[in-house]
Amino acid sequence: MTNNQLTEKGQLRHFLTIEGLNRPLLTEIMDRAEQFSSISGRQVKKVPLLRGKTIMNLFFENSTRTRTTFELAAKRLSADVMNLNITTSATSKGESLLDTLHNLQAMHTDMFVVRHAQSGAAEFIAQHVAPHVSVINAGDGCHAHPTQAMLDMFTIRRHKQHFPDLRVAIVGDILHSRVARSQIHALSTLGVGEIRVIAPKTLLPSNTQTLGVHVYHDMKTGLQDVDVIIMLRLQFERMQGALLPSENEYFHSFGLDQQKLNYAKPDAIVMHPGPINRGVEISSDVADGDQSVILEQVTHGIAIRMAVMSMVLGSRSEQQESVE
Ligand code: CP
Repeated sequence: MTNNQLTEKGQLRHFLTIEGLNRPLLTEIMDRAEQFSSISGRQVKKVPLLRGKTIMNLFFENSTRTRTTFELAAKRLSADVMNLNITTSATSKGESLLDTLHNLQAMHTDMFVVRHAQSGAAEFIAQHVAPHVSVINAGDGCHAHPTQAMLDMFTIRRHKQHFPDLRVAIVGDILHSRVARSQIHALSTLGVGEIRVIAPKTLLPSNTQTLGVHVYHDMKTGLQDVDVIIMLRLQFERMQGALLPSENEYFHSFGLDQQKLNYAKPDAIVMHPGPINRGVEISSDVADGDQSVILEQVTHGIAIRMAVMSMVLGSRSEQQESVE
């Protein structure tokens, strides 16, 4: 996949993948999100940074957290935001993706936020939009979910500060997870000391060894002394054939309950991008427990998406003045 998401000056023109982005840029996204977080605590939760800009949410695949936080983020930046309802749009009458895009672009759209079941869809759209239009990937197939990874990094930084000191474990269906791929790129770029993946062999991609991670097939050794545990959902909608014996057996071996959580450091945080499946990959007492930061991740999604949209669309100096 090409990396055409940066301008000649190294600024974000699109936001399609974490792959190929450097540490200063990821840090800038988090620093900017830190500024935007304070806006959510104000009486008037708006800044005029993107006033006059038009942002279209194109979700060809279901979403709760990503779609709504992108919409909230755009509104807090004072942009005009539209949500195209794909099920009632003319795509159901046979209109092609590119024709739909060109029609929406003709309405003077400045940015498309795209979720699609097909890996590479956001990149494809970015290659076909007009020069003044930007594209943000809100999750494409098994490939990437870069804003999710950045809100996860932001959440980790809020709790643990110094990335090189950390041991992070990602647990579950790595094979089908766009989130895991983006997280591994982000954790690695930010210099995390040790990245572990814990999964049955059937749920690991064939190129796992090239990702720079340590692989474990059992929770007891994999979770030993980790600072951060990221649980993943079993993505049945992307599985072809039976890769697991049963949900019960999966939970017994790889589901996070209080007993398995005790293998990690006592102050370890528990994360999950959502949606969670209680009793399949995580028990309710852990999902709702003191070490869980799952709902914090959702909240941070707004500030991270404000940061990314403002960096992609705005000039940096003007933005800085308007935040203050
Ligand atoms: N984490 C995530 O992408 O959730 P949604 O599918 O609800 O957007």
